[in-house]
Amino acid sequence: MEDLSPHPGDLEPIEMASRDEISALQLKRLKTTLAHAYQNSPHYRARFDEAGVHPDDLKTLSDLSKFPFTVKKDLRDTYPFGMFAVPREKLARIHASSGTTGKPTVVGYTRNDIDTWATVVARSIRAAGGRPGDICHIAYGYGLFTGGLGAHYGAEKLGCTVVPISGGMTERQVTLIQDFKPRIIMVTPSYMLSILDEYRKLGIDPRSTSLAVGIFGAEPWTNAMRLEIERDFDMHAVDIYGLSEVIGPGVANECVETKDGLHVWEDHFYPEVVDPETGEVLPDGEMGELVFTSLTKEALPIIRYRTRDLTRLLPGTARAMRRIEKITGRSDDMMILRGVNVFPTQIEEQILKCSGLAPHFQIELTRNGRMDDMIVHVEAMPNATNSDVRAHSAKELAHHIKSVVGVSMKVKVGDPDSVERSAGKAKRVVDNRLKG
Ligand code: DLL
Repeated sequence: MEDLSPHPGDLEPIEMASRDEISALQLKRLKTTLAHAYQNSPHYRARFDEAGVHPDDLKTLSDLSKFPFTVKKDLRDTYPFGMFAVPREKLARIHASSGTTGKPTVVGYTRNDIDTWATVVARSIRAAGGRPGDICHIAYGYGLFTGGLGAHYGAEKLGCTVVPISGGMTERQVTLIQDFKPRIIMVTPSYMLSILDEYRKLGIDPRSTSLAVGIFGAEPWTNAMRLEIERDFDMHAVDIYGLSEVIGPGVANECVETKDGLHVWEDHFYPEVVDPETGEVLPDGEMGELVFTSLTKEALPIIRYRTRDLTRLLPGTARAMRRIEKITGRSDDMMILRGVNVFPTQIEEQILKCSGLAPHFQIELTRNGRMDDMIVHVEAMPNATNSDVRAHSAKELAHHIKSVVGVSMKVKVGDPDSVERSAGKAKRVVDNRLKG
């Protein structure tokens, strides 16, 4: 694979700033953000007053811990426009996350917010090895989901030629990659695997494509998956993180030259990691729940938003801005089986060790009397569908899960294409415990 390390001249000055410069900018912006939220959002004013804090109480960055958290329920309770700190007429765009239950979570952007967002996504694409002039194939969904349009504005801002194909119609994805010859693809890692299957079905060597960089996010994926995708496509696979409440994609991104976790774009987003039970701020390096405060957003300043994503903060490497370790999973996706905490990413790692299994999977939770059971549904590789080979693959996976994760799970190895596919985020866990 090509060496894609950036030339220092390509970076924004803030990407080369010292830690002290970054902290000074953060403190200044944090003060402005707290004052803006307090003065212009009745929601935040009420919350700060209840907690007995005022924006003037913030003298240092660590004083942020005195301020109350914001949670998803706050956005639901103020549905649709109650959290905004600008008049509705100032909003240039609305996005929303579907949510599995109830009303969607609505977020809004002023023109400046859209520009900030494009800036951090452009920076992310550049960190991943993208350059002005590249053709960028965007297969994240367009619409209320922030993936497609977020990637789109960032790629345009960097100076790319954008192919806004959105998700779905997998055969056409392959046709356009073959015909337009993009250098960059932006898509969920699970949908990239569907594109990979399509290449194989069509008998085209995926290593022969023009793709040099894949920018994958919107769902957890492992380093084992990275190696698989990099090998199968002969391209760099880089992680992009974000969430609608904070802005969308582009809150943090890996640098292609290190691939050692995601640099948080700390000039716009202030990260904390807290103990998920007590809410205490944890020192850098400790695992906990990621919390974000926006530093420049106008329409929806977000103060100490509890992401439910589990990771740890690490010092900067390729850039001075701190990194987050690849996300292990969401606290909502954590399953507890006979006292052991299990995340879908741990199962993914074990599946990728089994050569007879395809990387698509879904975990079904069932109840057997008073005991919870977990069934891993996987697929045989097209060349490993023979029943003996399947039985061997099932045993091999169950053994890896037992010895590495520490729990016994049932494994069902289905036919190729038997596991549900999604053109966006994969649904990794199906809870059937209350059924039947
Ligand atoms: O998924 C924004 C996005 C779009 C990010 C495209 C990256 C690429 P939401 O739909 O609000 O926004 O979902 C946010 O998705 O809290 C994480 O749980 C998960 N997530 C996003 N990126 C990653 C990642 C978009 N790189 C939620 N690794 C977040 C693991 C991720 N989880």
